[in-house]
Amino acid sequence: MPKIDRVEEIRHDVIIIGGGGAGLRAAIAVAETNPDLSIGLVSKVYPMRSHTVVAEGGMAAVAKPNDAREFHIYDTISGSDWLADQDAVEYFVDEAPRELIQLEHWGCPWNREDSGQVAVRPFGGMQIERTWYAADKTGFHVLHTLFQTSLRFQQITRHDEWFATALLTADGRCQGCVAIELRTGEIRAIRANAVIMCTGGGGRIFPFTTNGAIKTGDGMALAYRAGVPLKDMEFVQYHPTGLPGTGILITEASRGEGGILLNNQGRRYLENYDLGSPLSLTDPKHPQNRTMELGPRDRLSQAFMHEQAAGHTFKGPYGDYVHLDVRHLGERHIDARIPFVRELAKNYAGIDPVKDLIPVRPVVHYMMGGIDTDLDGATALPGLYAAGECACVSINGANRLGSNSLTELVVFGARAGRHAATVAQKHSLSDTPEINHQLEESRSRISDLQNRPKGGERLADVRDALTTAMEAGAGIFRDETSLAACCDTLRDLRKQMSHVSLDDTSSVYNTELTTALELEGMIDIAEALAHSARHRTESRGSHQRTDYVTRDDDHFLKHSLAFRTDSDPRIEYADVAITHWPPGKRTYGAKPDQKENDGGNQ
Ligand code: FUM
Repeated sequence: MPKIDRVEEIRHDVIIIGGGGAGLRAAIAVAETNPDLSIGLVSKVYPMRSHTVVAEGGMAAVAKPNDAREFHIYDTISGSDWLADQDAVEYFVDEAPRELIQLEHWGCPWNREDSGQVAVRPFGGMQIERTWYAADKTGFHVLHTLFQTSLRFQQITRHDEWFATALLTADGRCQGCVAIELRTGEIRAIRANAVIMCTGGGGRIFPFTTNGAIKTGDGMALAYRAGVPLKDMEFVQYHPTGLPGTGILITEASRGEGGILLNNQGRRYLENYDLGSPLSLTDPKHPQNRTMELGPRDRLSQAFMHEQAAGHTFKGPYGDYVHLDVRHLGERHIDARIPFVRELAKNYAGIDPVKDLIPVRPVVHYMMGGIDTDLDGATALPGLYAAGECACVSINGANRLGSNSLTELVVFGARAGRHAATVAQKHSLSDTPEINHQLEESRSRISDLQNRPKGGERLADVRDALTTAMEAGAGIFRDETSLAACCDTLRDLRKQMSHVSLDDTSSVYNTELTTALELEGMIDIAEALAHSARHRTESRGSHQRTDYVTRDDDHFLKHSLAFRTDSDPRIEYADVAITHWPPGKRTYGAKPDQKENDGGNQ
């Protein structure tokens, strides 16, 4: 049980900020590592409302005799355009099947073949079918499984609807956080010997995203402000198939099951693009036809942009779009394998994919970058860990492969939990005035925000200007001019933010206040992203510069590290861990031992 020593202070051995897949897996790992530790799970929403719940397509892990660890490793490294740390990828691939079987033992209802074996489906950039799935509601089932398992551990205390506003540090270590209880507006210190950040990504800094409203990059901003660098922030994944308007994800599983993309001339336009695949087949019934639509996400999203430039996209009220055709799969197959796609298309696009084409367009989906961690999830600030999308460990490099991220949550959530448990038991909390001072600072920051003179800048205006600047300056294609303009706007927005005034002075569920606090952090991470992108004068994976069109391994086979300063972020670089796979050309459809490692450009 948590100890409450003073009215405002709650104490645990370990706290986890974020109650989604990574956070719940980390909490379970801490509890299993040392049952005597008290664990606090601090989450701004109820865990079952975390963004993991909307993940659809599945989780990658080697499962079948036709697959092998080397293939999954190779696909991930090549998909990352060689920016992934290969030691991290090796660990990830080795642990993945164990974690997925563990989920099954905890109750996850994986789809099965008639033989009873776990079923796997093809997914983008994976040369072999290795994506485990629970229809197309995998995230929902995985989150339920983890949540119900966490309930078995009495030592896990949930602080639901608590919003973390700052990290506490003393004696050179992270010792907890400050958080607002949203139900009452109380601001308290939650102390711990180790903190694991599992707050997800920050897709909401872009205007059009699959990310729920909660994905504002809070944890990244908290770590960044505490002096921890953000790594590889310039790499943002656009998912090729979101619904226009809402940005709701139409899972890659729809293409894994055989769906095809058509332009406004009814043509399967991906035939015209080098997706890194030697296959270019037009027969939708051909067993390998899916490879084209299952090229890596960065390449598919870039192909859409070229179609748009050529006038081959449809014009709609929510921007240009193309069509996804799954009609040939038939109603039975659609209802069995991708029922959620049908449900979403009916409810949010007003069409039935059994007989209609689905309008789709690229949409911001995932951040490859995040809080810089080592393999244990440890950051440069002792006592602070990170796992999941908010972290960059890094297995995704310049482009993540679909279905690797849910697996990443459990593999690295578990490892961070085990490590944090071991470290937490070796330390005790410092009772220094420093901590009270930091708590008071947080309180005054919030009270200043609430007591500014009325009539100042509007939150919505700042947020709109932020998302517009990000899309225009740091979207699918970027260059020096667009990035410089984006950095200038962000600098102005930071100033504007200090003149925002709030209308809501209440303390109970003050969503205007939390929006303002989120927005401050969003500007921080947007700056880290735009400046990292500006410094990387090459094109790699999802970072495509029209003024530097080739990959430049001589100068940029490096991770970027953005450090927060009082003015623009400072960008430094760190080596990529290469174990056995020297940089090569990205190709799909061939096994690793068939590839020549010819280096150089894509
Ligand atoms: O399309 C999808 O189901 C997304 C999966 C992922 O991002 O891993």
